[in-house]
Amino acid sequence: MTAARSSLTVVLAAGEGTRMRSSLPKVLHPVAGQSLLAHVLQAAPKGSGASLAVVVGPDHRAVADEAQRVRPDSTAFIQRERLGTAHAVLAARDALARGADDLLVAFGDTPLISAETLARLRAPLGQGAALAVLGFRAADPTGYGRLLVEGNRLAAIREQADATAAERKITLCNAGVMAFDGRKALGIIEKIGHANSKGEYYLTDAVAIVRELGWEAVVIETSEDEVRGINTKAQLAEAEAVMQARLRKAALDAGVTLIAPETVFLAADTTFGQDVTIEPFVVIGPGVTIADGAVIHSFSHIVQSSIGKKASVGPYARIRPGTSLGEGAKIGNFVETKAATLEAGVKVNHLSYIGDTHIGAKSNIGAGTITCNYDGFGKHKTIIGEGAFVGTNSSLVAPLKIGNGAYIGSGSVITRDVPDDAMAVERSPQSIREGGAVRYRELKTRGKKPRNG
Ligand code: UD1
Ligand code: CA
Repeated sequence: MTAARSSLTVVLAAGEGTRMRSSLPKVLHPVAGQSLLAHVLQAAPKGSGASLAVVVGPDHRAVADEAQRVRPDSTAFIQRERLGTAHAVLAARDALARGADDLLVAFGDTPLISAETLARLRAPLGQGAALAVLGFRAADPTGYGRLLVEGNRLAAIREQADATAAERKITLCNAGVMAFDGRKALGIIEKIGHANSKGEYYLTDAVAIVRELGWEAVVIETSEDEVRGINTKAQLAEAEAVMQARLRKAALDAGVTLIAPETVFLAADTTFGQDVTIEPFVVIGPGVTIADGAVIHSFSHIVQSSIGKKASVGPYARIRPGTSLGEGAKIGNFVETKAATLEAGVKVNHLSYIGDTHIGAKSNIGAGTITCNYDGFGKHKTIIGEGAFVGTNSSLVAPLKIGNGAYIGSGSVITRDVPDDAMAVERSPQSIREGGAVRYRELKTRGKKPRNG
């Protein structure tokens, strides 16, 4: 049973990621709304008996911060020079020296790895193996370390640059994830040298060392999709596609109706209630909760928000961070919300911007209503009571309070608070000139022949 064994997981994230051609450290690029690193850290063992170390580059404060955000139980170690994957593991020497039962080494650029696979990889350690390596059959093995096997034993790993022509034909490759007997690990990794074509300390040399010491190394296989390493933007896009396929399948399995699943983009942390429907072409970013019976219509974009029971969003709605929709609330087409709480039954059906706002239950916000929350210096709040009616094309200049049951006439620019049950109208008086249209047409057509038709 691996459950009873203690573990240390070391996630290597000190690489430069130069092939991403980006100023952002590689492991901070997102897949399904979450950094590559966050995906790996979440898959790592958690709870009592599980410790976690992240190896970061000397100039990668942001990577250490991200690790701390996602797993406050993790410790960051700095690898001062990038001398290879074995050298990187030794940056966490203090953690290794504590001698957990199992040492897991994973890469920060392999975001699709699952907790189940990590558990499967640890299992042989409980049966006496000194090392278990995660392997996969690569469609194109170029660039990966090749697994050299003898029967069902792992004999060595050969890096691409050091492989013979015959070895390069091997398609069974090193996924990069390894599990060591934690009490033997430090001794093994310290023996690794750098006599290879790149002059780097290769963690993969651990296999040959384990065999020389008379211990056992084994391969646990998984699918290529789970261990795609991200080195380029093209590979980042491939990983996104794999992750989206997984998330859509999980949503469908959980009972969400996706009419055209391949057009819906989800985040790794999206949560759904029962009987949720998502129409085609919807993008859901991180931090979104969608409650029972809600419907998200086409072309809507939702980030860091909660959508209440039986609420309806879109088509063409933009729900920005901090939006909370109550039960049965309705957000219609071309409506944008931000930091807005809309209580049960509120309707904002057309063409509005609702920001830094609280709207009480059952209020109706007319087409084209804008909360003017920004005065060029600061943001201000608009508070609208219950059962209020805001006429179309109103500008609500914040800070502003509109009382329960109040009524705002169309086209008003409201700058002062409106008491409960009051009516506020702000518009210039309308003038009527009898026959004015006739006189206007005569003026415009004088001396001109009337046009045909
Ligand atoms: C590595 C493996 C290879 C495997 C492949 C799977 C080695 C020697 N090779 O090759 O067998 O098939 O992954 O994707 O292990 N890193 C550091 N510090 C360093 C060097 C690397 O932290 O000094 C980190 C990188 O940030 C990255 C990981 O280690 O997360 C792997 O390094 P990378 O250079 O991408 O190794 P590969 O050449 O892909
Ligand atoms: Ca890599």
